[in-house]
Amino acid sequence: MADRPNILIVFTSWSGNTRALAEAIAEGAKGAGNGNVDVTVKRARDTKRSDIESASAVAFGSPTYYSYMSGELKALFDIALPFKNSFYRKPAVAFATGEGGQLKCIQSIEGILELFEVSFVQRSDILSAGLAVQGRPDEGAIRQAKAIGRKLGDAGVAYACSMGRKNIIAGKT
Ligand SMILES: Cc1cc2nc3c(=O)[nH]c(=O)nc-3n(C[C@H](O)[C@H](O)[C@H](O)COP(=O)(O)O)c2cc1C
Repeated sequence: MADRPNILIVFTSWSGNTRALAEAIAEGAKGAGNGNVDVTVKRARDTKRSDIESASAVAFGSPTYYSYMSGELKALFDIALPFKNSFYRKPAVAFATGEGGQLKCIQSIEGILELFEVSFVQRSDILSAGLAVQGRPDEGAIRQAKAIGRKLGDAGVAYACSMGRKNIIAGKT
């Protein structure tokens, strides 16, 4: 675990829609902990096991490809099973863009995060699509993404504090 809480935002994007959400989440997260947080935005293909293990909170986003997440993000999850413990109770959120099928995409990401037993700061449900956006994110969607980023950042700070306390009790620091 890094000294400062680290908020990790992982995404895939080819034409920029999902990247815009990732960047807005990052901007929101930077305001957490009075700014005493590190925020990292990474493409799924560049994300390593150590990035996830050292993160205090995580966000995963993808464009909808054939009613599912991108292959790139799925490939990351496919190698994550051996270190699924590093997701346990970690604050997390999913985000997606699409041309109508984005709910299926966000649900596919949330399904895996649920299996890894993260602590969702928000998730889609029957009443709300969560951060599943159709087309290019407009001002409202960007505002929503920033607010979610702040929530994720705050939860990441709390998570890092609780892990720090555990380490002190276990005599690890
Ligand atoms: C190969 C491919 C498959 C797609 N399949 C779907 C789909 O099943 N449902 C949907 O709503 N949009 C689909 N789309 C549209 C993209 O999800 C959408 O344009 C997305 O916002 C692009 O994100 P990006 O700008 O971050 O790359 C597909 C696009 C591509 C390139």
